[in-house]
Amino acid sequence: MEQRSQWGSRAGFILAAVGSAVGLGNIWRFPYVAFENGGGAFFIPYLFALLTAGIPILILEFTMGHKYRGSAPLSFFRMGGKKAEWLGWWAIFVSFVISTYYAVIIAWAMKYTVYSFDQAWGDDTAGFLFGTVLKLGDVPGEAGGIVPGVAIPLLLVWAIAFFILFAGVKKGIEVANKIFIPTLVVIFLMVVIRAVTLDGAAVGLNAFFEPNFSELSNPKVWVAAYGHIFFSLSIAFAIMITYSSYLPKKSDITNNAFITGFANSAFELLAGIGVFAALGFMAVQQGVEVKDVASAGVGLAFVVFPQIISEFPGMNGLFGVLFFLSLVLAGLTSLVSICETYVAGFTEKFGISRNKAVAFGVGAAALISFLFATNGGLYFLDVADYFINQFGVAAIGLIEVVAIAWFFKKLPIFEDHANAVSDIRLGAWWKICLKFVTPLVLGYMMFGLMKLNLLKQFENDTGNYEGYSNTFILYAGWFVAAGAIILGFIFTAMKWNKNTD
Ligand code: PHE
Ligand code: NA
Repeated sequence: MEQRSQWGSRAGFILAAVGSAVGLGNIWRFPYVAFENGGGAFFIPYLFALLTAGIPILILEFTMGHKYRGSAPLSFFRMGGKKAEWLGWWAIFVSFVISTYYAVIIAWAMKYTVYSFDQAWGDDTAGFLFGTVLKLGDVPGEAGGIVPGVAIPLLLVWAIAFFILFAGVKKGIEVANKIFIPTLVVIFLMVVIRAVTLDGAAVGLNAFFEPNFSELSNPKVWVAAYGHIFFSLSIAFAIMITYSSYLPKKSDITNNAFITGFANSAFELLAGIGVFAALGFMAVQQGVEVKDVASAGVGLAFVVFPQIISEFPGMNGLFGVLFFLSLVLAGLTSLVSICETYVAGFTEKFGISRNKAVAFGVGAAALISFLFATNGGLYFLDVADYFINQFGVAAIGLIEVVAIAWFFKKLPIFEDHANAVSDIRLGAWWKICLKFVTPLVLGYMMFGLMKLNLLKQFENDTGNYEGYSNTFILYAGWFVAAGAIILGFIFTAMKWNKNTD
């Protein structure tokens, strides 16, 4: 058996963990999630979820990876046998699904980096995105043909990911993060500084930070906060367990988790400030309100930002290039981390070489991702993302915490393990958060949300997400979500190769 890979330095590990955490989620997801869920008041559930769930679970996952020295399935297996192993595979297959469409968004960002030089999008930025770039079909659920303009940058994204992953943990992932993350911080700071010095920036920031406290009684807001924290910190996705399994024996755990968590939140806050400053500028230019120009998800980065860039005073090409390049860099380091979960899992389960695992695992993800580079690609992406986030992220996090704290009762052992190597000592707060606070608050809120949704169904007022047809929702949403669990069980049922223990 080959010797297990290891990080070359503490900074290498921290940069890789931060590289995974800081991603598309920080730049285009956080600003609109916060805005839609209470604005300034969102910081209450956000901070609550960060301090009682995000960082405690990050410490938990770092401890598991460090203690059991295995991919997520192997670490769970060593903790609790096959009864626990499936949790690792479930997380891996959710990561697998995310990697297939995450790569596509990075590919768009690459295209837009180039378009930025001469604002190729013209006046109708929405028409440009959906018509010219994505060549979106009319019927959700029909793939149509491959769109070369998306497929080619997508190939490039996968080529970069392959290149980094083939090179290994230390020579590939660590080196890439050491280059990409400092570069990202520098260019993103330039973007934010320019944005806050625009006319109207204050208007945007007021809109962003204005607290809407009445939203806090809505369970949706709390579930959104937990869901975002899990997504943003890359926890409950098998990633942080995998990355920490490459730590040398003598490595700090708790302090590293705090650094990673706060770095991610700092970046997110910065992104919120930059994005809303820019939105304020545009609202003032057009004489409308900020809420009328703020838009969700894909539309924010690829429809609204191009408009802002076009209206920019002086050097607008440069601003656009830096903005989209930030998306590319932040996305690539996260993509690599998601892929590493299944590379590690397949290597250990089947006793194959790293290169084979990269070729098969990442190859399969790359192949599937071309579904999102078709005429119907955006619809598939939209539904997959919605289902994974609505039914995957918070649920896996909750089940993971309850399983470890209550079913396998491992918190005291993990506490000792972390304390033996860390500067900061874990006390009662850590166990109380994981055992009581997170399960109670998150469980209660998820239950409340389910009830609200059921009631809505009852009153017949919703219909499906985005009005998509039942069959489309069924196979693009429910089948994918269920498929991740079923594959988890199938892989758990398979035998471990002889070389792994
Ligand atoms: N944490 C990443 C972000 O904020 C997203 C991500 C989620 C990456 C899950 C990998 C796995 O964008
Ligand atoms: Na993040």
